[in-house]
Amino acid sequence: MTNNIIKTLAIETSCDDTSIGIVTFDGETFSVEKIFAYTQVKDHDIYWGVVPEIASRLHSDQIIPVLKAIGIEKIQEVDCISVTTHPGLPWSLLVGESIANMLGEYFNTPVVEVNHIVGHIVSLFLDRKFSEIQFPILVLTVSGGHNDLYLVNSQEWQDSVTQSKSEESSESCMDSSAKSQNDKNTISRWNLSIEKLWTTLDDAAGECFDKVARMLWGPYPWGARIGQQALKGKENPEFDFNKIWLSHEEFNFSFSGLKGQIHNLLHKWEQKWRTPTEQEKYDIAFAFQENVVEVLSKKLVRASMEYQAPSLAISGGVSANDRRREYVNTLVKNEQRLRNNQPKSIDLSHKWKFNVYKPEKKLYSTDNAAMIGVAGILKFLNS
Ligand code: KG4
Ligand code: ZN
Repeated sequence: MTNNIIKTLAIETSCDDTSIGIVTFDGETFSVEKIFAYTQVKDHDIYWGVVPEIASRLHSDQIIPVLKAIGIEKIQEVDCISVTTHPGLPWSLLVGESIANMLGEYFNTPVVEVNHIVGHIVSLFLDRKFSEIQFPILVLTVSGGHNDLYLVNSQEWQDSVTQSKSEESSESCMDSSAKSQNDKNTISRWNLSIEKLWTTLDDAAGECFDKVARMLWGPYPWGARIGQQALKGKENPEFDFNKIWLSHEEFNFSFSGLKGQIHNLLHKWEQKWRTPTEQEKYDIAFAFQENVVEVLSKKLVRASMEYQAPSLAISGGVSANDRRREYVNTLVKNEQRLRNNQPKSIDLSHKWKFNVYKPEKKLYSTDNAAMIGVAGILKFLNS
């Protein structure tokens, strides 16, 4: 640690991105000093999806060039090496883990194992003053492989505080080791608890973005394309797909039915030799995006009220979707206005205000090493 700055080399290879970065924490803000990545999207293009065997081979081809771009000499400056170890494609994870362990051994640097989903959650802390974040936060992580709702809480670590035993459904960035008094003036530590509350019963929303994009336009560039094409679309009563809310009391999600509705429609047309016009494709993309964004956003806002969390956030690949960002903000503003205009007879102990957090940069939404660095530093500080 130099000048009270903690530094980590972070490695992410869980799926189709070989991403390596240097992340720092000065006791207040997590920042990215350097980050480089090789993304494999185009390599899997012709197969219409990620092929695990090809993914792991590409990671092993690309990891050294990416590491060289960072500068191998940089590794001597870091306090720890953070690496994604789960969940993900096993052979892809192994490439990152092997390099991390080899570097750790050679440079005598501790290796911190990081859960990929915890990485997505703490991506929200990057480039933002940690002490200004209002906890607890209800965090919705939405990617290609996961669609979960978490309650994330944190407090500055005190000697008197003992860490509660983590349950099966909880992940903690902190172990229960005691804080040394000598460290007290060096850097703040936080006890971060992450409790999984709700999940998807079938597909993650990102998976549906990918599949619907492929049904309409073929393989590349998958989910992000929906947002671009939906800008040219409009509301069309022909594409009034059902929204899957499940029961009012639960905050689980289900998106495979929506994907199925679109598949059935296109299949029916195909049987009649009818191909959708470009405008119809834009309108389907528009209807699909509105449907998913409305369900995700309304459930998130309603759950935040139910759990009385002053803050809410979305992280993961789908959080890069511009319409989603816009929708949540409008929803929260409307809800805030509605609640704060209630007659005095209805007791609201405090004026209702929500903080809405999102990853500060789109780079932090999709898979990246920066978020793994944040999770690694939090875990390292508390080990
Ligand atoms: O977090 P991520 O990079 O990888 C996983 O952990 O799965 O998320 C990838 C997912 C893909 O399903 C992709 O279609 C979706 O995030 N995605 C988007 C956008 N950018 C990525 N979905 C909607 N709008 C976007 N702009
Ligand atoms: Zn991810």
